[in-house]
Amino acid sequence: MSAVKTFANRYGPKFVLLTVTGRLFFSTCILQHFLFDFLTSVACRLLRGKGRAGRICHVLFSRVLQQHLENSYVTAWKPVFCPEEIVKPEDDVQLEERFLQISPNILESFPRFRPPVNLHVWDGELGSVRLLAEAGKRLSEKRQEDVSSHCRAGNLYLDRRDYREYAVHLSQNLGLVLVEQDLNQDEVAEIFYLALHRMLSVFFEQPIAGRLRELQRDLSILCEYIWIDPGRTEFLLKTLDKHYDAATHGVNCTFVGLGVFAMRFRTRLERTNLNHLALGLAVHDMGMSMVPGFIRDKEGILLHKDKESVRRHPDLAMGMLTRLKVTDRIVEQCVMEHHERLDGSGYPKGVRGDALSLPGRLCGLADSFSAGIAERPYHSAGDALEIARQLLQQDSRYDKGMARALLELLKCGYAGCGVKPAT
Ligand SMILES: [Fe+2]
Ligand SMILES: [Fe+2]
Repeated sequence: MSAVKTFANRYGPKFVLLTVTGRLFFSTCILQHFLFDFLTSVACRLLRGKGRAGRICHVLFSRVLQQHLENSYVTAWKPVFCPEEIVKPEDDVQLEERFLQISPNILESFPRFRPPVNLHVWDGELGSVRLLAEAGKRLSEKRQEDVSSHCRAGNLYLDRRDYREYAVHLSQNLGLVLVEQDLNQDEVAEIFYLALHRMLSVFFEQPIAGRLRELQRDLSILCEYIWIDPGRTEFLLKTLDKHYDAATHGVNCTFVGLGVFAMRFRTRLERTNLNHLALGLAVHDMGMSMVPGFIRDKEGILLHKDKESVRRHPDLAMGMLTRLKVTDRIVEQCVMEHHERLDGSGYPKGVRGDALSLPGRLCGLADSFSAGIAERPYHSAGDALEIARQLLQQDSRYDKGMARALLELLKCGYAGCGVKPAT
């Protein structure tokens, strides 16, 4: 403030008053930069002429004022001049509905100087929530300290309207969802969806060992999350997307397959390493990336030779797994058997009956279900319950117990509709 006073004493209080008032009124509104620059420019030019001294004066004056006002006035005046920023929750419940508390763990994952989302605090004096730091804007050291101390006091919030950006940030730091208490199960499911979709997209684009490791890391976090409480799979199923692309299909199959496995083999879940199953479900169609694009994207009926090309994708995937040094049996079974059927009508080997492995049956069911609910050029997206019913009726081709578990999970959630769990 001393710099402003010095300037006022030396060059005349009217101009300073004019610029300060302009800054206060417009600091939080769209035209702030234009108006502030215009006013300071006029003031400085009147004071010092149009030369170099005027320009230096303008720059210095702007910097000093901007820094000072950012730190002291903006937060106090903003609610007055931009009333839409004021949020006055009536009680704690309303506060929680609209705002999500940010824990120190999450804050630590943010870039220190530029938070990825707007940060808010509860202001007891105003009786409202006010903006403390804007997304993407550089924070001064003092403001960082403010943010940290509010966070430690449990008084740092995210507006749920900004949730999408927050979810994207967490999906890039997935381990946080295991320790974060304030996220509900729907929110965590969406974060897993975003994370796995991104990981699968980059892996299918370039299936190399480094990207596979990153995918495995995120899948193991998902498995840990399910292992703690298998009932969480019902929330994962709510995120299924009808858009059809390789990554979406991979995520849908992973969520459906793990959900059915958790539902059908509850007691076995505890002693199963889910990681291999999750990887098999996620990458079962990786061989499709080696099928020519014009065949993959072809609309309408495929020619015989095109079908032959598509039917090679399990073998192509096996070659890729070998190059990536993935030798786990469960992953191989998902890749090789997801188009095999119990009656021997599938491909590539026509395996039938008991020879069809459990991961192969599971992946086959998840694959057919995910294909059925997807929007394709030659068929519209099917209703999830209807598709699950149709698969249950085809008990000569699909595992009946698994198909029933899928229908139960979709209809009644993990608690089921009264079917006895398998032992
Ligand atoms: Fe396939
Ligand atoms: Fe598939």
